[in-house]
Amino acid sequence: MVVRKVDLRSDTVTKPTEAMRAAMANAEVDDDVLGADPTACRFEAEIARITGKEAALFVPSGTMGNLISVLVHCEIRGSEVILGDISHIHVYENGGISTIGHVHSRTVKNNSDGTMDISLIEAAIRDPKGELFYPTTRLICLENTHANSGGRCISVEYTDRVGELAKKHGLKLHIDGARIFNASTALGVPVSRLVQAADSVSVCLSKGLGAPIGSVIVGSKSFIAKAKRLRKTLGGGMRQIGILCAAAYVALHENVGKLEGDHKKAKVLAEGLNQIKELRVDVSSVETNIIFFHVLEGSEVIVEKLTQFLEKHGILVMPVSSSGIRLVLHHQISESDVQYTLSCIQQAVRLHVGSAGN
Ligand SMILES: Cc1ncc(COP(=O)(O)O)c(C=O)c1O
Repeated sequence: MVVRKVDLRSDTVTKPTEAMRAAMANAEVDDDVLGADPTACRFEAEIARITGKEAALFVPSGTMGNLISVLVHCEIRGSEVILGDISHIHVYENGGISTIGHVHSRTVKNNSDGTMDISLIEAAIRDPKGELFYPTTRLICLENTHANSGGRCISVEYTDRVGELAKKHGLKLHIDGARIFNASTALGVPVSRLVQAADSVSVCLSKGLGAPIGSVIVGSKSFIAKAKRLRKTLGGGMRQIGILCAAAYVALHENVGKLEGDHKKAKVLAEGLNQIKELRVDVSSVETNIIFFHVLEGSEVIVEKLTQFLEKHGILVMPVSSSGIRLVLHHQISESDVQYTLSCIQQAVRLHVGSAGN
């Protein structure tokens, strides 16, 4: 029996489409470390245009994009960055900004919508008068969409206010825009407007956009010139990257328009899950393609067994705690996959996967 496969672990799991594979096969390439790969140059120019920044640089991953950006803004020893306590940079990037960049982190509590209170950000900025004791604040980081808050969107008004605050104190603003196209789609605001206040943005190509590999950082020409040197230092200077940029080009043109559908499917799935007695989803917080659901206290359902049951039925999910599971929609999940997932979860709950030992 062929088991259907529905992979909801992340939007990073998508496979390149036929059009991407064809574009990769036919890409015109050269040595990008020498600045000579025509497909990479064209792609970077296109991303700079879309984001409204002067220049762009292809990097192997979102983690490297964030690391390079923070390090460029904090190149002076003793720098500090203000960032959310559950931001991706702080939680999931191996503390690279500290271990590799010697940048000190000052965390501010992330609200449930992914923002940080502006008053708390301002209070976290170090008083230059105390420089004998304090590190020097040089950067604020935002994340849009905010992954750990369930893919919630950071509004343009909020971003502008943080940008004004940064300017007032002579700081830079970086946005981890791994899913900035999801935010742009959900808010109905062009990416360029959404990131207008930012000095730099890292954009993932291999998440909602569905390209196989890569991220891009954007900013001023002088920022990108420094970023290019750092990319080389970190071993991220790659040669014929036009192959990867060609796929990303297709992703940009084929898949941005599909994000709205992904968000609709996420909403349908979240609403369906919320109707299952033992489970809870804050449906109003599902603004883009990420869903966190949890098992209600006192329920017989055990996350580990539910996950195993789903896996047997070809559905892959990401457990995030003893009572919570994360699901992420992407362009290779169909409406019928959503219905299949709902019916399998209903079935699992009905069978009391858990202490009953099924
Ligand atoms: C918000 C956010 N930023 C950055 C990254 C890092 O991207 P990569 O996995 O390409 O290093 C991720 C990855 O999931 C992410 O969700």
